[in-house]
Order: sequence, then C-alpha cells, then structure tokens
Amino acid sequence: MAVVEYHPTAYRTHTLGQIQESGAELLATEVKICGFMEAARGKGKICFMDIRDGTGRCQIFFKEGAVDEHTLAQAQNLSRESTVQVIGMVAEKRPPKVAEGEPTPPPTYEVVASALNVITEAMTPLPLGVTDTVSVGLDTRLDNRYMDLRRSHVSAMFTLRSRVLQYGREHLITEGFKEINSPKIIASASEGGTNLFPMMYFDTPAFLSQSPQLYKQLTILGGMERVFEIGPAFRAENHDTYRHLNEFISFDIEGAWMDDDDVMAVQERMINHIWQSVADNDQDQIDIINQYRISQDEQPITVDVPSIPFPRIEYCDAIKMIQDSGANISWGDDIESSHCDIIAAIHPGFHFLPRWPMAMKPFYIHHITGEDGATGEQLSRGFDLNYGRDEMTSGGQREHNVEVLEENLRNKGLDPADFSFYTDGFRYGAPPHAGWGLGVARLLMALTGARNVRETVLFPRDRQRVTP
Ligand code: AMO
Repeated sequence: MAVVEYHPTAYRTHTLGQIQESGAELLATEVKICGFMEAARGKGKICFMDIRDGTGRCQIFFKEGAVDEHTLAQAQNLSRESTVQVIGMVAEKRPPKVAEGEPTPPPTYEVVASALNVITEAMTPLPLGVTDTVSVGLDTRLDNRYMDLRRSHVSAMFTLRSRVLQYGREHLITEGFKEINSPKIIASASEGGTNLFPMMYFDTPAFLSQSPQLYKQLTILGGMERVFEIGPAFRAENHDTYRHLNEFISFDIEGAWMDDDDVMAVQERMINHIWQSVADNDQDQIDIINQYRISQDEQPITVDVPSIPFPRIEYCDAIKMIQDSGANISWGDDIESSHCDIIAAIHPGFHFLPRWPMAMKPFYIHHITGEDGATGEQLSRGFDLNYGRDEMTSGGQREHNVEVLEENLRNKGLDPADFSFYTDGFRYGAPPHAGWGLGVARLLMALTGARNVRETVLFPRDRQRVTP
C-alpha cells in the first residue's frame, strides 16, 4: 500500500503519528502539534495531557518553569475534547517499571510543552463519551455522529470502509475496468417502475436514480467495454430492517463480451482481493474493533480470506435444499431470509445463487430459450451473491437483442416507448454483456461483523431519519 506523506500545514509541523513513529529522529526537535484533548492529569506544578489527532495519540508534559502558571492552570482545567495546539520539544517518555527479568519495552515519545493555544473549548457534558466503553444506543450515536466518529472503533469502521472501496477499485482497474459516473436525476425507472423518489426537475417530473443499471449498459453500447461505478442509489422502500436503507452506495460493474459466469468470477476475485488486502494491511483496524467488541462481551472478528471459486447453488437446487429441510417453498417463490438461513447453515460464507426464474428477474436480464427449471418455466441468467443469510449482490447477463428486450418490458407491464433512450442504443450493434451491483454497506457488515447496516454508513437515510 502507498506510504502516506503528511506535509506540514498552517497549524502543525508534525502529526502525532509521526511523533510516535519517528520519535528517535525527532528527539530534542521543536514541534507544533494539534489535537483533541482526551484527558489531563496532575495538579500543582505538573500536568500530563493526552491529545489525539487522525493519526494517533501523544502525551504532552506541562511543567512549571517550561510554561507559565496560567498555561499550567489552563491545561489542568481544560474540558475533554477541546481542541489545542501545542509547541514543545520531543522527548523520550520515562520507561515503565517492569518486573525483574522482563524485557524493557521499546521507547515511546512525548512532547514537553513550551506553549499551549486552546483553539476551541468543548462544552460539557459531551453528548456521548469518546474514550469510555459505555454502550450507547444507535439513535444517540447517529444523532451525534460527529462525536461518535471520534471513538476509536467507529473511526476504524470508516477507515476500513475507505480501504474496501480502495481495494475494490484497484482490483477492477487491474482487470481493465474504467470508473464512470452516471446521472442520479433520471426520467424513467431502471428497476421496474416502483420504489422511486419523485422530484421536480425545473418544470419536468423526474426521479432519483435507483441504480446506474441502464446507464452502465449504455456505456457498453458505446464501446467502453468494461466500466464500474461507486455511487448512491435511492429506493423509496418501506422496509425497516437491519439491512435496508433508502439511500445506499451501490458498487456496480458492467463488461462487454461477458456472461453471468464471467462476472461472477470478477466478483469473487475482487472480494478475495479485498479480504486479502485487509488481512495484509489493516489488522490494526480490526484489532481496534476487537478491543471494543471484547469490552462489550462480543466475539472478536477475524479476516478469513474466502477461497475462490465461491460455491454456486443454482436456484433449482436451492429450492430443493430448502424443501429437504422441511420448509414450505415452491418453485417460483422468492428465497426469503428464513430460507437463506437454511442455505447459510450449509454455506456460511459467500455463495452465489445463479439461474433464477426469468419471471422473477428484471426486464434487462438475459435468458436462453430452452434453459428451463424443474417445472418447465424459463430460467434466467440472473444471479445473487449472499454472505450467510444476507444478499450482497444482484447481477446477471443482460439481454442484448432489442426485440427480446422490448418483449421483456411488455411482459413486465412496462411500455417500451418509455425506455426508447435505452432500447434505441441496442439497434446499432450491441455486444453481449453482463454485470452486477453490490451493496457496499452490506459488504462492510460481512467484513466487520456489524449487525446493522447503519453502523457502516456515516449518515444513514432510513424511514425515520433524514438528518444529520
Ligand atoms: P438490486 O436491486 O438487487 O440490483 O441491488 C443490488 C444490491 O444493492 C444492495 N441494496 C440495498 N442495500 C441497502 N438498502 C437497500 N434498500 C438496498 N437495495 C439494494 C443489495 C443488493 O444486492 N441493477 C441491479 C444490479 C445489477 O444487475 O447490476 C440492482 O440494482 O446488496
């Protein structure tokens, strides 16, 4: 992974991470550092202050003589989470006492202050504690997300989220995919006409985009060959569950000259790369999450890199597996969460569910006439990817023959004329193509063990929440 280089800014010469990592070289150097004040200890002639920035923590030592009385009193009485700027000299911390025969730990560093500038003083009490492990309700956390984000394990979650997107991107780029951005204000539905948020676009009724589906296909018709997009999708769904939001980030790909099996293979290679990269580079973040989990009596998580290929359980076999377990389901029924639990008992990790009935898949999904299910109904080239009981992805090969595409639209009760901006693109030469859309928040749940999708989204939007 690229080495991060922090250059001095108007407010600081060094980050706190740099002081811990390069303390030996910085010994007796004057530094200007900034941070949130976590704790201050000491009375009279001394004060030890712990400060935190985005890169780490550092102890500041204030002592009479090095600073004036006023500064000493200010340091001792400052409220937690106030922001400060400190000027001082890097020094080696006094080594902790160790039992005889025990090895001395490696040196750590502190800053002996010569000046303190209180930038802003934090109000008391804080809306929620930053350094304690007291459990806080999700609503309080989300209402005060700016404060919640200061907690180490929450910050680790969003560091990991950023890394997951980075590793996913870098993998797709190595496979020849180009990043695109499609419009989020659209004139017609992509996923079948329901669950749209309407809006006015000047004098024209319009909607917020449910998916980049039709636009990523148009780029393939434009010869872009392999594209991906990481962007918001909006769904006016009534769901109020641990895994549904009304706005989510969809990680989409589309590739020409590919079928459903080809894009499933892209997906498993990408997920394998993400998990492997997290295991190689980000164990520190996993450790932070685990420290918190242990404090809450929860099992620690491990990053088990999933081996590829992932299991593939075709829809027909999945129905049989569910029936064999005694549950009531018929061919043509949706596979509900309770059914997914039955499959997950056998396949607890990532697994694909390919070849759904055509009647259950959107109009843009391809089918091969003659590929029929157990009761003779037409199968499709659409698939899902599940992790345990949760759906992560939908995808499939797309219909590239415009007559069949228009027939599919009519079969779904949609008017092809409403989709001419899209269907016309297929009239002038159309490559076979396939793709998928992956819910980023759900993938983070799989990685971090979060039990609610809201934990993995900075500012979630659900039925009850549109602020902050
Ligand atoms: P689909 O509608 O199945 O497929 O969405 C793809 C993936 O997005 C995630 N997802 C959601 N996440 C949180 N809250 C929601 N309300 C929500 N809805 C969906 C899920 C889901 O698997 N155009 C197709 C994809 C394609 O074929 O390329 C589509 O949008 O993880």
